Amino acid sequence: MKAVLCKSYGPPENLTFEEIDDPKPNASEVLIDVYAAGLNFPDTLQIEGKYQFQPPFPFTPGSEVGGIVAEVGASVTNVKPGDRVLAMAGVGGMAERVVAPEAGVERIPDSMDMKTASGFGMIYGTSYHALKQRADIQPGETLLVLGASGGVGLAAIEIGKAFGARVIAAASTDEKLQVAKNAGADDLINYSDDVLKEKVKDLTNQNGADVIYDPVGGDMFDQSIRCINWKGRLLVVGFASGRIPSLPANLALLKGCQIVGVFWGAFRGREPEVHAQNTRDLFDLYSQGKLKPLVKDCFPLAQYADALNIFIQRKAVGKVVLEVRKE
Ligand SMILES: NC(=O)c1ccc[n+]([C@@H]2O[C@H](COP(=O)([O-])OP(=O)(O)OC[C@H]3O[C@@H](n4cnc5c(N)ncnc54)[C@H](OP(=O)(O)O)[C@@H]3O)[C@@H](O)[C@H]2O)c1
Repeated sequence: MKAVLCKSYGPPENLTFEEIDDPKPNASEVLIDVYAAGLNFPDTLQIEGKYQFQPPFPFTPGSEVGGIVAEVGASVTNVKPGDRVLAMAGVGGMAERVVAPEAGVERIPDSMDMKTASGFGMIYGTSYHALKQRADIQPGETLLVLGASGGVGLAAIEIGKAFGARVIAAASTDEKLQVAKNAGADDLINYSDDVLKEKVKDLTNQNGADVIYDPVGGDMFDQSIRCINWKGRLLVVGFASGRIPSLPANLALLKGCQIVGVFWGAFRGREPEVHAQNTRDLFDLYSQGKLKPLVKDCFPLAQYADALNIFIQRKAVGKVVLEVRKE
């Protein structure tokens, strides 16, 4: 099969595209014919050796796919050959075939196409877990979403609206904010033009946001802790800006707020039943038309470098996917 390979750390141009042997599933794994591979910001970190999980060389990047089950291991019971699935493979997704652990494979609704499936699991799973289990967001609360047009950000807007929150979207360009508005955001802040913390206070009667969803970190985190409401929850999701911020602890004291870590990958492993319920809830919301995943950029598998560079150039809007086979 054809696969993208990472043999040493570096930029996307450092990867190779080669013919390799098909992977073989063990007893608890599922072999999948990949139709589309969903890319995520962490893929760019992993190929540069900057991610918390680094597979041994050579490895095929790509954590999630949409595809059809080709073969199952002896102990697998939740899917069978021919099922249309999304799969969290962890690694190996940028290839014609991938093996995934049974626990990471879910049958998808009939109405969901493969490109959508390939980019659904991580962003919606992360944002749902963040807003439901970590923030316990309530109807009528104000949710501020940073990096609002990116993968996890757009998902957070839609899920926040589904939970009955008022959503303020913040992003770096007016074009990105228009995408956030289309996803349902009530108010918009361009944080290239405006001082984020002042704008948030203006929009919230000087109270600040009840829940802040932060996949950006750096300067935006520094401002967020200064515009959070009393008993607010600041969700630490990621550091796309490249800087992991530090917190003067007196600010948490003064605001009576919580700084709440979100680690979806660990949550799935530690709380599989809660994760399974979240997935059912998300498929229900999708089937009801309350989630409208945006796949903005789609490339053939061989153009993996162009696709990964979209994240590095800060141009990702919604999902970036690689089409591996035609449906
Ligand atoms: N905690 C978890 O479990 C979990 C799960 C999935 C992802 N994540 C993390 O969440 C973050 C976002 O992931 P994603 O897939 O949504 O990525 P994405 O689609 O690229 O979105 C990231 C957003 O961050 C903003 N940004 C600010 N500075 C940036 C920079 N220097 N380069 C690139 N983007 C920058 C961009 O919006 P503006 O231009 O509008 O600022 C962009 O839309 C990543 O750090 C990822 O590792 C965490």
